[in-house]
Amino acid sequence: MTLHEEIRELAAERNAVILAHNYQWGDIQDVADFVGDSLGLSIEAQSTAADTIVFCGVHFMAESAKVLNPEKRVLLPNLAAGCSLADSITAASLLEWKERYPDHTVVTYVNSSAEVKALSDICCTSANAVSVVRSLPSDKVLFTPDRNLGRWVAEQVPEKTVVIYDGDCPVHDILRGADMKRTIEAADKDTIVVAHPECRQDIVELADEVCSTTAMMSVPSKYPDAKTFIISTENGILHRLRKSYPGREFVMADGCIGCRLHCPYMKVTTLEDVKSALVNLEHEVTVPHDDLVGARRSLERMLAVPRDN
Ligand code: 13P
Ligand code: SF4
Repeated sequence: MTLHEEIRELAAERNAVILAHNYQWGDIQDVADFVGDSLGLSIEAQSTAADTIVFCGVHFMAESAKVLNPEKRVLLPNLAAGCSLADSITAASLLEWKERYPDHTVVTYVNSSAEVKALSDICCTSANAVSVVRSLPSDKVLFTPDRNLGRWVAEQVPEKTVVIYDGDCPVHDILRGADMKRTIEAADKDTIVVAHPECRQDIVELADEVCSTTAMMSVPSKYPDAKTFIISTENGILHRLRKSYPGREFVMADGCIGCRLHCPYMKVTTLEDVKSALVNLEHEVTVPHDDLVGARRSLERMLAVPRDN
């Protein structure tokens, strides 16, 4: 029996659902029941009938699954799956910013801890950030923690004043306009450039489409005549794109094979870890009660807002 088959058998025995983010290794995506972006995974976690959720992503995502399903067992197969963007904001640093902007509504990207979510008014993902900010009655917003996503949202919603926290995702923030221009110059004339809103402004300005990882999956259908797509997000998305569009070409924006747009946290989980999570029911994610209640309120408010794209 292959490792893949063993995992599927164990998942059935445990009545477990395996969720995987679009940035996971291809073999993990292939063994999962559902592959998606942060928003899609939260929705899937909320609606699952399984007793156990095996979360192949990073810690803040597994924590959100637990917050939305406190009665279920949520497992993170590898405890080293953190996130430097989530680590860039703490309860103490958010409280400091809230003191400086007391009349602002706090919108927090899901790439944050449950404790930080609990201190926020509402959450967002890259798939609904613009709609979330537009939906608010207040015209003063404190957006945390990603400064690139915050700047992009502020541009889409110019009628609101958006104060932006100073965090970033180093995987996306490393990319510069010069990298992108080089990649565009080496490509065909009708190449389509796709960027994640966690990228810097010079990248977003060169892009034809700026969207979450799930929305990226439908970009090739939107451009039936384009042969090549330059992708400006973590390299795990290539697996799904290449499987879904075998006749098209997908090139990483970093001019190499995606080695710079490679998230070490997303790639720490292996198939062996997934098997071991199911065999030993490890590592169970727990969230302190007060954080869970507060984070749930912020996530549920977010889930009531439709996706942008
Ligand atoms: P999305 O899948 O929501 O676009 O997430 C991007 C990301 O960086 C997750 O870590
Ligand atoms: Fe965090 Fe990695 Fe996602 Fe960046 S790509 S936000 S570091 S999990």
